[in-house]
Amino acid sequence: MFDLVIKGGQIVTATDTYDADIGISDGQIAALGRGLDGQDTIDATGKLVMPGGIEAHCHIAQESATGGMTSDDYRSGSISAAFGGNSCFVPFAAQHRGMGVTETLDLYDSRAQGSSVIDYGYHLIVADPTEKVLTEELPAAFARGVTSFKVFMTYDLMRVDDRQFLDILTVAKTHGALTMVHAENSGMISWISDRLVAAGHTSPRYHAPSHPALAESEAVNRAISLAKLVDAALLIVHVSTPEGAALISDARLAGAKIFGETCTQYLFLTRDDLDRPGMDGAKFMCSPPLRDVPTQEALWRHLQAGTFSVFSSDHAPYRFDESGKLANGPDATFKQIANGMPGIGMRLPMLFSEGVGKGRITLQQFVALSATNAARLYGLEKKGSIAIGMDADIAIWDPNETRTVTVEDQHDNMNYTPFEGWQVTGWPVTVLSRGHRVIDAGKLLAQPGHGQYVARAKTDLTGYPGHRAVELDPKTNFGAEIAP
Ligand code: URP
Ligand code: ZN
Ligand code: ZN
Repeated sequence: MFDLVIKGGQIVTATDTYDADIGISDGQIAALGRGLDGQDTIDATGKLVMPGGIEAHCHIAQESATGGMTSDDYRSGSISAAFGGNSCFVPFAAQHRGMGVTETLDLYDSRAQGSSVIDYGYHLIVADPTEKVLTEELPAAFARGVTSFKVFMTYDLMRVDDRQFLDILTVAKTHGALTMVHAENSGMISWISDRLVAAGHTSPRYHAPSHPALAESEAVNRAISLAKLVDAALLIVHVSTPEGAALISDARLAGAKIFGETCTQYLFLTRDDLDRPGMDGAKFMCSPPLRDVPTQEALWRHLQAGTFSVFSSDHAPYRFDESGKLANGPDATFKQIANGMPGIGMRLPMLFSEGVGKGRITLQQFVALSATNAARLYGLEKKGSIAIGMDADIAIWDPNETRTVTVEDQHDNMNYTPFEGWQVTGWPVTVLSRGHRVIDAGKLLAQPGHGQYVARAKTDLTGYPGHRAVELDPKTNFGAEIAP
């Protein structure tokens, strides 16, 4: 007799689709079979039973690169994630200059503990890689299960230079951590932005030309080169251009430990959304910016071909009012408007409807992109699949439910959704976290605090041979041991 049995559903994993019941005991999957009985039962007849989504790029209770606080905290952010089919998320813990890393992680613990309805971890943003951070605090962060470090190549208050980037890559490599990078060329962006503003082109739509595709591809190329120099693992987040994606694909084909991520908004929105009347374009400002339809098609192809291991929302919620997007007044220039848009609740319904529903990806690819790949890459060992011994983090989807997207359905602290009015088919109707119903039939059933911090393991790099630059290899540099 199990604590809970999910009966009659079609189980989908990253490799298979099969009919079976799931027996759950003590929060874990205890059996897969037919005719299982439990003290409690969920009838999943006609439904798809999949691993709960893992949202691996979101900004929650975080001060942005320009200082503003996100509108979602761990309570509202996790609730919105859960309504969107997720049972785990990994927001960022942002070190700002002058802060220590341990202090940063303690701060985020205090923000998250007792608040989240789903399990969580953090990626650490490193903005101030002092000697103490590199030698003591990053290893300590890794030891407490924060096994991914993010750096910015742009944003004046956050960016690291190439040498600092190399230091972080080297420490990450030593410990088995994964470095993540926001890759855009800072100088190109500030040079164009200043000229646009000086010429009076200040409205939100000019955010698009201020962030040229070349700024992304130059930075992606440089980031990959830095990672290759020291043979370190690197994930390029929120890739928005075919050129950036092609650089990642080439590096992966060459065996480098390079990974890519793209996000919902780059597949479904374009720079025309930035050109909406008045200040409405501000709702669609994110960095890198929205591009065009041919770019969307190219990014879909890279998603299909496996260039992108991770598909995320980059949920960076700033309300369309004076607390968020309009904090610098109704006439703020595009340079003074917070970057980022919400979408933690729409990532999976959009991918399912437009991806699986329209035949662009298989159900298996959907599961890989929604949960399995992120679990493996980010060391969430008990999550991301339906197998005996895994956490019972499960999303049950009705593949036929059709909805029109509204902001009310997001359950976040936002006053808009960029996907308002889209028709989607396929909806997560029940979400379990460690066997506990978080969402069922449109209702929130878990209390804040149900979600627990998950210490993550290191990234499994099996199958990525990499190669050391000859100049760093003692066999070919006259015996100099200068890097791990
Ligand atoms: O515009 C964005 N993406 N804002 C969030 C911060 C970041 O760069 O990921
Ligand atoms: Zn970023
Ligand atoms: Zn982000």
